[in-house]
Amino acid sequence: MIRLFREEGSSLFVLAIESSCDETAVAIYQGELINGRGRIVAERVASQIATHAPFGGVVPEIASREHLAALPPMVDALLGEADLAWQGLDAIAVTAGPGLMGALLVGVSYAKAAGMAHGIPVIPVHHMEGHLLAPGITGDLPAFPFITLLVSGGHTMLVRVDGIGQYHVIGQTLDDAAGECFDKSARLLGLAYPGGPEISRLAAFGDAARFDLPRPMLNKDNLNFSFSGLKTAVMYTVRNAGNLTKDMRCDLAASIEIAVVDVLVKKSLCACHQENVTHLVVAGGVAANRHLRRQLEGEAAGREITVHLPDLRYCTDNAAMIAYAAFQYCWSDIHGPVDWDANPRWRLVDINKS
Ligand code: KG4
Ligand code: ZN
Repeated sequence: MIRLFREEGSSLFVLAIESSCDETAVAIYQGELINGRGRIVAERVASQIATHAPFGGVVPEIASREHLAALPPMVDALLGEADLAWQGLDAIAVTAGPGLMGALLVGVSYAKAAGMAHGIPVIPVHHMEGHLLAPGITGDLPAFPFITLLVSGGHTMLVRVDGIGQYHVIGQTLDDAAGECFDKSARLLGLAYPGGPEISRLAAFGDAARFDLPRPMLNKDNLNFSFSGLKTAVMYTVRNAGNLTKDMRCDLAASIEIAVVDVLVKKSLCACHQENVTHLVVAGGVAANRHLRRQLEGEAAGREITVHLPDLRYCTDNAAMIAYAAFQYCWSDIHGPVDWDANPRWRLVDINKS
């Protein structure tokens, strides 16, 4: 990462680009060097959900083309809204991985080209690092160390965070991610993509006690997860039911939601206990789940654990979290890799080595 020389008291303007999956997102964050805090000046998210919905999931080739068409006009509009020219920016942050290779390449190529053309340093950001720092965008990050439950469409992990860029994975899924389990179960129920919000919508009208679904790994003496068995149980329940009535769909949605949430809550609290840590961050798309948010806050309170949740709009993919993470690097004077490229398989733990 390139060192940014600025006088104390001044602020840095970071433009961020996120294009790792099916959302094209851009944001500008103004960070204050005096205290490491700041604010989002302008942001935009263009969702491709409607384009991918007929296919029941994200089609990588279509995602890349949509990013390519959406990104340049979005950046122009963002700069206009923020009343900033390229010369007013101090850094460009971009999601460099993990994600879909073609989709990542659109953002990374754009960021590198713009950085070179305008003489602005470009900072590669790990998508999951963006998610796990997201509560800091609008609030304060808890003091280190804290535990983060990262739950998205592709990842489910428990991470011990000892500082910016210091991440230790202490538990993770052995197969499907929690979001993936929601998405696949929703598909079995004939619901639209992405399945998490759909399951949650139906669950509000359902009886969670109607179907007794497994809570995988709940009583195992470790912090790992496994959701593929739950998905299989949903498949057999749907098959045995024959024609699903509306009531059954709602009851099954509620039973799926409570099974996933039970496991996530119990393992997160165990992680805090094991690591002797009293602050828990929950981030990623599944952190938008209202039942998970309620359940965690309720159970943590009795154990004197404080739960930190990003604003709802910063749970799912966005560029504000990428801008914020990059600013934290600048502010903490941490240097990332000099030689880098889009890396669809970039592992969170590899950040620690850079
Ligand atoms: O973080 P994210 O936007 O993209 C990835 O990085 O994967 O997470 C998307 C995932 C999807 O699996 C989606 O179904 C899930 O988050 N999700 C939810 C909710 N909103 C999004 N899952 C459960 N309840 C929700 N309200
Ligand atoms: Zn994400």
